[in-house]
Amino acid sequence: MAITFNETTRIFTLTTAHTTYQMQADAQGYLLHLYYGARTAGEMDYLLNYGDRGFSGNPNSAGSDRTYSLDALPQEYPSLGTGDFRNYALNIENADGSQCCNPVYITHEIAAGKYTLKGLPFVRAEENEAETLKIILEDPVTKVELHLLYGVLEKEDIITRSVIIKNAGKAPVTVKKAQSACLDFLHGDYDLIKFYGRHAMERNMERMPVSHESTRIGSRRGTSSHQYNPGVILAGKNTNEDSGSCYGMLFVYSGNFLVEAEKDQYDQTRIQMGLTDELFAYPLEAGAEFTAPEVILSYTNKGLSRLSQQYHHCIMNHICQGKYVHANRPVLINSWEAAYFDFTGDTIVELAKEAKALGIDMVVMDDGWFGKRNSDNCSLGDWKVNEEKITGGLKHLVDEVNKIGLQFGIWFEPEMISPDSDLYRAHPDWAIQIQGREATQSRNQYVLDFSRPEVRDYAYECVASVLRSANIAYVKWDMNRHLTDLGSAYLDRKNQNELSHRYVLGLYQVMETLTERFPQVLFESCSSGGGRFDAGMLYYMPQTWTSDNTDAVCRLKIQHGTSFLFPTVTMGAHVSACPNHQVGRTTPLATRFAVAAAGNLGYELDLKKLLKEEKKEVREQIAEYKRRRRTVQFGTYYRLADSFQENQSAWNIVSEDGMEVIFTHVQILARSAYRVPVIRLKGLDPDAVYTDCETGQEYGGDELMYAGIRIPRIRQDFSSTTMVLRKS
Ligand code: DGJ
Repeated sequence: MAITFNETTRIFTLTTAHTTYQMQADAQGYLLHLYYGARTAGEMDYLLNYGDRGFSGNPNSAGSDRTYSLDALPQEYPSLGTGDFRNYALNIENADGSQCCNPVYITHEIAAGKYTLKGLPFVRAEENEAETLKIILEDPVTKVELHLLYGVLEKEDIITRSVIIKNAGKAPVTVKKAQSACLDFLHGDYDLIKFYGRHAMERNMERMPVSHESTRIGSRRGTSSHQYNPGVILAGKNTNEDSGSCYGMLFVYSGNFLVEAEKDQYDQTRIQMGLTDELFAYPLEAGAEFTAPEVILSYTNKGLSRLSQQYHHCIMNHICQGKYVHANRPVLINSWEAAYFDFTGDTIVELAKEAKALGIDMVVMDDGWFGKRNSDNCSLGDWKVNEEKITGGLKHLVDEVNKIGLQFGIWFEPEMISPDSDLYRAHPDWAIQIQGREATQSRNQYVLDFSRPEVRDYAYECVASVLRSANIAYVKWDMNRHLTDLGSAYLDRKNQNELSHRYVLGLYQVMETLTERFPQVLFESCSSGGGRFDAGMLYYMPQTWTSDNTDAVCRLKIQHGTSFLFPTVTMGAHVSACPNHQVGRTTPLATRFAVAAAGNLGYELDLKKLLKEEKKEVREQIAEYKRRRRTVQFGTYYRLADSFQENQSAWNIVSEDGMEVIFTHVQILARSAYRVPVIRLKGLDPDAVYTDCETGQEYGGDELMYAGIRIPRIRQDFSSTTMVLRKS
């Protein structure tokens, strides 16, 4: 039993293979958090400290007992207005205008299998893989109910949380804040690891102490954003890759979010994750309910690598779905950096021919094939092929490409509308904007109001009709601006604050239908690169374009940061031309490959411009990648050296069966006073012998892990070394 309830102590215990999560519905009816950490056997209510908490309020039910204060006790789902002055998970505005909800325990249910969420992505599990706990709390005055949901995936060391807020009273209320998960820690010093960034430089890792202040990170951009990823780690002070305690929180959502971390007056730590309370208010009529998106929690005391692997496994097996989830992903050539808007059907055919000769599986026609789009200032919404560019039409082009022996993929940006488009001329009110104001443009475009059913139907049909018209194997679903001027001509005045969330729900509905009806298509999401790299998008589309920055050196950091929560198989990674288009750097082709080969490999350059010897090298790269693709895409990933801290980066990936190990090292700048880098591999069998497939040299697993491998000296900037080892 992964979930137990002790009737006497009213303690709930959630147990996974290596972790325990515990809470108690106490004598007052409040749900107190007791413990989350390494697996334990007992009940830990003895940890609760009831000292006299002067100046911290005592709930009415505690009478004159000054030792009982919600401001000091660890809460499972803290609510504003009840005397807990720390960050709160819930704020309800009642019909009388007051802001207060005082939820107390009513009942609970334990069931086999994992709960699901309507209209939202979630961790999926078979009946025998998970258990669900639903705890119902109720405000005695308004009868607002909170259904706290816990999904326990025992083997995976994963616990999910979500909340359904149900107005079971008679008067309307408004949900003004609804976080999905809160973790309260009675003691300990923690660091918050977050992944911040910008366009073309996403998911930089930053580790900062949680201190006596409230740290708030999140997004009010309508997407999860390049700026902060909706995934964070709370780590013990001494936690490193290989040891120590760490907790992950990953939001299964693709829009606005908020993470709050604080150390309180008693040095207790609280961290919460969920929807942001900005630009948000959800009115609930009597009988109505609101579902907060899911947060995936995971814990280990074995360091950050193990925590990452727990998330990788969960995403690969319980988030991503469809026929590609466990299938080898194709090597593709993308037309964007090869030609930008300057292409015709012939260009694509040429690219396909070159690609075929190199062993590439698929050609992707990126932006510029529709309407009159020859730059980024028009035509979004007019998803009709431009037959001046694609002479003979799309089917003809796709057939040509198929005849060459390649699959065909295509780019869309279905959530957008250009002011210069037939769609906007016909339906200006389909764009998100505030009546009477000139809306903000970004990349010369507006965002379509996906809260509106006819807009969603239109967007769906545009993509679907193209997919029906030809043999299309892959779609890159792009999204290149954030939401501003939040106004919807469709929603009532009182519902305007729901727009950002309804937008995401609308997007999910379109993606759900599309992916269901076109199961043969591989979908890759993109938002100006990795601006929406989150578990919500991965639920519908099993891979994401990691960044618009294809420079191998920048990618070391971007992919390193991404790897903390997301597996390699979700990361699109392309070899591009030099000097690199984003940063102007020239790096060796071998290094560009070494870095891109740590994800879903693609090429994004004009293959015709490659020199003869470069073509030979690329052909060998692709053959080599295909040989090791299974390991790269589905193996166990270990970070070995970190270019945020050092002049190098390194990682190794161990195949699912443990027989193959791919080790890659990248030296950033060459140095004169050379210090021999020795890197220790991880995840090997210490008693086994591993053979370097290129040189035939044999190493013991113990040698590789404990003594390490010496990186040969290379007198060149941006050089790389890759070793493929076979276990015998
Ligand atoms: C942004 C994407 O990240 C690029 O890869 C490319 O598809 C462009 N959009 C096209 O406009």
